[in-house]
Amino acid sequence: MRVECSDCGAVADPLEICRCGGLPEFVLGDLRLDPVGLRRLVRERRASYEPLFASGVWRWRELLPPIPSDAIVSLAEGNVPLYDSAPGARYAGVDRLAYLHLGMNPTGSFKDLGMTVAISAAKASGARAVVCASTGNTASSMAAYAARAGLDAYAIVPRGRVSDAKLAQMREYGAQLIEVDGSFDDAFASLQHVRDAAVVNSINAYRIEGQKCAALAILEARGWSVPDWIVLPGGNLGNISAIAKGLREAFALGLIDRLPQLALIRAARGVQTTASAIAVGVPQSLRRASRALVRFNGIELAVDDDAILEAKAQIGREGIGCEPASAASLAGLRALRASGEIAPGADVVAILTGHILKDARVPSRLAALAPQGDKHAVA
Ligand code: F0G
Repeated sequence: MRVECSDCGAVADPLEICRCGGLPEFVLGDLRLDPVGLRRLVRERRASYEPLFASGVWRWRELLPPIPSDAIVSLAEGNVPLYDSAPGARYAGVDRLAYLHLGMNPTGSFKDLGMTVAISAAKASGARAVVCASTGNTASSMAAYAARAGLDAYAIVPRGRVSDAKLAQMREYGAQLIEVDGSFDDAFASLQHVRDAAVVNSINAYRIEGQKCAALAILEARGWSVPDWIVLPGGNLGNISAIAKGLREAFALGLIDRLPQLALIRAARGVQTTASAIAVGVPQSLRRASRALVRFNGIELAVDDDAILEAKAQIGREGIGCEPASAASLAGLRALRASGEIAPGADVVAILTGHILKDARVPSRLAALAPQGDKHAVA
């Protein structure tokens, strides 16, 4: 598998930003696999007792960068539910909605999918330490996987802007916390002063490879039927880049015969949003995310904090729950349905990126919710 700059196509190092400013990406190249055989292989691995295949990422090993088995650091990530949600569909005004709950990962967020690959690669390369800038989830995940790998971990976070639960995770897993004044963007800028540690932010091409498996998880859980839309929250825009890559590869391999549309939902208040996980001013993956939106006939929308907290209350009421940033996907879907951009008959998957306990102090806006569910229905 080769690595290319996703902007200019030059040969690239998986951990380095290209001279042109583009980000490195693995390329499957002319990998040919029988799609029926691949689906069967992955299903057999899911049912096997092989510890590595307890991971919903490493079951897709043929599509991942080659890493020796003895370097792989896994916490059995990627086994997450796709919850059908009739009440959520009613709330948003679409025919069919399901939540892929990536908050049900080992450290409570989608970051684990990418981190298992990035930390395994770091371990395989002989690195002693890893570092990231983070609004909290990337750093929690890095801390856990680095601890499993026996690597030192340095988490650079914006002071006063990371939830207590995420800080507690970083401490518990033994990471060194470096708090900087300012926002996530300032934390990211200070990465350049760090020496002798592998950066595991999503500019690291291994992260994207793991996170692309979320797209495969959606498709597999639906028996390879493609939804009309996949809606997800965006911050630094690594995740939409990864999901788009997973979908593109699934299409190229013949696992699916059409592509869904993508809706990217960001916080209107930018770095000031109460959805602190997506409080990012200048997303590192902006260019590749923009390309993904073009390729997938996608759409981008910013939603305000009130809409996010109302959607969060809705997801909570369903007995599912998520952290505020995740609820941006349902808030965005509702707004895109209201504006007519998404049709009422749409079959939608909304991605929930983080667990309800990640940021439990942010209050939901329960009062704003209309009564819902059959038992409340007025004839
Ligand atoms: N949802 C949650 C819960 C997140 O933590 C993040 C990003 C996103 C959505 C957006 O994903 O950045 O790939 O567009 N969190 C990063 C972090 C910034 O440091 O944990 P993205």
